Amino acid sequence: MIPEASNKRHFQQNPKEPQFYNNPYRFYSELHAVGGPVFWQDYGFWCLCEYNAVNSALRDSRLARLPPEGHPLPEHPPHLNTFAEVEKHSLLALEPPQHTRLRKCVNQAFVTRQVAQMEDSIETLANSIIDTIEHEPETDLLKSFATPLPVTVIARLLGVPDSECRNLLSWSHAMVRVYTLTQSKEDELEANQASADFKDLLLALIKSKRKSPSDDLLSHLAQPGSDKLSDAEIVSVAVLLLNAGHEATVHQIGNTVNILLSTQHAEHCSRDWLIDKKNADALVAESMRYDAPLHLFTRYAQETFELHPGIVIDKGEQIALLLGAANRDPKRFHSADQFLPDRRDGANVSLGAGLHFCVGASLAKLEIRVALCTLFKRLPELQLVEQPHYQNSFHFHGLEKLLVRW
Ligand code: HEM
Repeated sequence: MIPEASNKRHFQQNPKEPQFYNNPYRFYSELHAVGGPVFWQDYGFWCLCEYNAVNSALRDSRLARLPPEGHPLPEHPPHLNTFAEVEKHSLLALEPPQHTRLRKCVNQAFVTRQVAQMEDSIETLANSIIDTIEHEPETDLLKSFATPLPVTVIARLLGVPDSECRNLLSWSHAMVRVYTLTQSKEDELEANQASADFKDLLLALIKSKRKSPSDDLLSHLAQPGSDKLSDAEIVSVAVLLLNAGHEATVHQIGNTVNILLSTQHAEHCSRDWLIDKKNADALVAESMRYDAPLHLFTRYAQETFELHPGIVIDKGEQIALLLGAANRDPKRFHSADQFLPDRRDGANVSLGAGLHFCVGASLAKLEIRVALCTLFKRLPELQLVEQPHYQNSFHFHGLEKLLVRW
């Protein structure tokens, strides 16, 4: 329901404006000053920005990732057919009961892999990547370190050979571009081709793992069981794990290294925080609150209801949950705009909550901690070569590049 133009809750902010995507937090503090939901005119939807409101909305059964019956999503154009096919069984495109069944299988597969036991292998991998860059005078850390680490971890977890990581990255980049809602037709054609290539690789792997299974997630998902997944479902799960699993982790590593290297935070935090594991975990949690990579998720109203006194959301209407704003809510966090790794005021919503809570949450936190600890142990003199800028993509709040020397 579109409010009156004079409404004080109406905001205009072009998400592609460099000042905005480089620092969305200034905009968020204006929203917090209003209090309650705001209508973001450029998108044309109501947004929740406060911590409690976002946290409750993520768990609210009146809000779902899919529209209710009778309100179909716009069809993908035919040139996105394979992309749509691969997305069809994505956990993010399902709600109960289909979501429950698939999520159970994925959760089981994750539990059997025992994320915590991956610490040593992630550290070995981080060290081997640093071996390849330490003799360079400087490097774009995002490209040379933060990118190869998560993609290799997820590929090994799935059981995809390391030699395919380069392909996985380019397929994932091509597919993820379609979620930014700013893609061209060329981008869409590329995303469709990437989906087809990715699907072919996965189908071949599923076939071979059914014949000779090993200790990886694809083998686990492909084994016959009471909740047996179809090949199409396994392909969707694997594609989602890769796409959801690496892009956000790359950018969280980049954003956190940037925080640690910028003098702005030196008073409250030094890299010595990384020496102790518990402190390092707290630092990772605080960096996920302070500068997360994913700021906006949407939900569809399953029924008409009052979101806030005087603001009615119609059945089928889309609203946004601004995770990045919720994490800086001054009503929830003291000194919300300061990076304080020793803060004791609790969790953040960067990994979501409720039904769609991030499957890879513990893996992501482990990867980020191990990446940071290994990096600063090996290159203790690490420093910025130049002030980095964020990429033009509000939906993936991460740096364009991160030039460092040591
Ligand atoms: C810093 C890193 C990460 C961040 C910030 C992040 C954030 C999120 C968020 C906010 C959601 C919920 C979306 C919603 O409610 O609409 C989500 C879901 C998901 N994440 Fe992550 N994630 C990260 C890393 C990972 C990793 C490493 C994996 C897998 C290996 C992963 C797999 C998934 C999957 C499969 C879902 C969908 C769950 C469902 O719909 O049931 N994520 N993530």
